Amino acid sequence: MMDSPVGSLSGALRWGDNGVPYSVEFNDQYFCQDNGYDEAVHVCCRGNSLQERFSALDPSCPGTFTIIETGFGTGLDFCCARQVWEQSAPPSWKLHFVSLELYPLGKDDMARALGLWPALGDIGHELAGCYEPSPGRVRDWYFKDRQVRLTIVFDDVVAALARITADNIAPQRADAWFLDGFAPSKNPAMWSEQVFEAMAALSKPGTTLSTFTVAGFVRRGLEARGFEVRKIPAHGKKNQMLTGKFNPEK
Ligand SMILES: C[S@@+](CC[C@H](N)C(=O)[O-])C[C@H]1O[C@@H](n2cnc3c(N)ncnc32)[C@H](O)[C@@H]1O
Repeated sequence: MMDSPVGSLSGALRWGDNGVPYSVEFNDQYFCQDNGYDEAVHVCCRGNSLQERFSALDPSCPGTFTIIETGFGTGLDFCCARQVWEQSAPPSWKLHFVSLELYPLGKDDMARALGLWPALGDIGHELAGCYEPSPGRVRDWYFKDRQVRLTIVFDDVVAALARITADNIAPQRADAWFLDGFAPSKNPAMWSEQVFEAMAALSKPGTTLSTFTVAGFVRRGLEARGFEVRKIPAHGKKNQMLTGKFNPEK
């Protein structure tokens, strides 16, 4: 089914017959088999109502919309968010996309993964062309005349979230979260109480979240930190996914 392992900094990446990258270490794939692009748009962008929220930003009162993601992986979620941003946000506003990654893909692997999605247009090529995995470091890239800033903290999720706070990387805190570790049963470090606690500290009333998983301990962990969560229909073969809103007063 799978061809032989290829190089990645995680040392354990394989490619399925359908071209989907698969982590041997976590026994999971980076995105779904049938259409990872549609899944990313549905789970991350629709799950956080990004198009509606970007369109509603007041052009005469410019600011920064901040998305924080757990698990940068191939960069597909970032590319989808950037695409929706360019289609719907006023040019006076800026998008700051902050992500974190402990086992970064190599440059060639990212190019191969993003090359699967012609719907991204040049956005995927642009990312793959400038991206450099930089373990231990915090790196910034700017796109679209500096309207879009990507920051990746190359560290373990808990340490990375602590660095985002300590270094004031997201000064206005998150407007939206993309929770995209591998499945909680296979990658529990990405779904720990420490992660949920750090998320609450980096959120403000009205901050939203979305994730493909509806695992009970994830729902309970988020609720215990002040997120109201609900299940909504998922993409493709999956039945449900989770969205949420930070409401610490409740
Ligand atoms: C499902 S993939 C993310 C897919 C990604 N959002 C995309 O658009 O391609 C999960 C990612 O979490 C990363 N990861 C796993 N454990 C981690 C940890 N403890 N700290 C930081 N990143 C981790 C993996 O290396 C992988 O890239």
